[in-house]
Amino acid sequence: MTLAGRRILLIIAGGIAAYKSLDLIRRLREKGAELPCVLTAGGARFITPLSVAALSGQPAHEDLFSLTDDFGMAHISLSRQADLLVVAPATADLMAKMAAGLADDLASTLLLASDKPILLAPSMNLMMWRHPATQANLQLLRSRGALQVGPGAGDLACGEVGDGRMAEVAEIVAAIEGHFSAGPLSGVRALVTSGPTFEPIDPVRFIGNRSSGKQGHAIARALARQGAAVTLISGPVSIADPPGVTTVKVETAAQMLDAALAALPVEVAVCAAAVADWRVARPAAEKTKKVAGGTPPSLVLEANPDILATLAAAGPRRPRLVIGFAAETEQLLDHARAKLARKGCDLILANDVSAAAGTFGGDANTVHLVGPDGVEPWLPLSKDEVADRLVQRIAVGLRGAR
Ligand code: CTP
Repeated sequence: MTLAGRRILLIIAGGIAAYKSLDLIRRLREKGAELPCVLTAGGARFITPLSVAALSGQPAHEDLFSLTDDFGMAHISLSRQADLLVVAPATADLMAKMAAGLADDLASTLLLASDKPILLAPSMNLMMWRHPATQANLQLLRSRGALQVGPGAGDLACGEVGDGRMAEVAEIVAAIEGHFSAGPLSGVRALVTSGPTFEPIDPVRFIGNRSSGKQGHAIARALARQGAAVTLISGPVSIADPPGVTTVKVETAAQMLDAALAALPVEVAVCAAAVADWRVARPAAEKTKKVAGGTPPSLVLEANPDILATLAAAGPRRPRLVIGFAAETEQLLDHARAKLARKGCDLILANDVSAAAGTFGGDANTVHLVGPDGVEPWLPLSKDEVADRLVQRIAVGLRGAR
């Protein structure tokens, strides 16, 4: 596959595998990619800026404060003009900086200032790789949308044998090509709802719930990775917008429904939001004041629209696949089957949200896929894995529906 017209920003951090990055530059240039390169201070101890410049065909960038051509903002344009950022080798240190949001040199600043997909090729000693800190950092970066290739297992430069060896150049090139090639869902439009809704009581108070949006956002990200054009309708969450996805931010269930209907037509709708079932019938226009010795106010609630059921009953505008979640604390499968029928959707991911399962806010999800043909248990999986697996099922389901 040609990479002509693709601009790939290669960040080379300080690891012995940096020598392989020189070959990576050659292979990517042979495929036509434009390849600005950044060397960290550590990277420049392993390979020279001169070799990087000679192979990439442009000066290697090293110093945050030498990029003065646009008033010190070149780190923004370097990362913004790229189609993809590749970090190879991605050291434990650089990934820790990324996870923490540090920006104390050019590479970390570019990575923080970027709105583009990032592919990490980790490379380090076995113990560093296995360390819970490294694994937690990587999981966090993946949950924010970072792509990963490798590491492989084998002889390490430190003399030990095991995981931690940077992926081979051919594998990294294949991962880059995979990223740019049309995915199985290319041309498919998808809509995902995610997060909680907040229903106002007055201008400062609301009724909400504990949904973090992690699962819905992971599904939006996974759909986009497979080439779908995704509209993510998100309630108030504290996690980042997934890259490559159109995110529409809403607060209430009514706004979420309006945004969902505005996103039609789509081929697939995944309703992962924890929509409040009720809203306050008449939210107060001003902050409700406490009256000394007075009785506490009562809230009169009314039903919110059911977004999933509305999409499933949208007649000619109905998405071909309508998928919901069933958040349950007991009788998981019975409730899920009942919801599948009641809401008229095609599949339900039944989700154990009992306190013991730790689903709300956590990274793992205990899921069963409930469809007309029966129940498939999918446990235990991370929310990213649930998303990837669901997206595979969506691809198969849409092929059937086409
Ligand atoms: N859902 C929705 N709109 C609502 C309520 C729920 O789109 N107003 C969707 C959720 O996104 C989820 C599915 O319906 O995909 C089931 O949500 P859940 O909270 O489990 O069920 P409820 O319909 O709220 O029923 P109950 O609270 O009785 O379990």
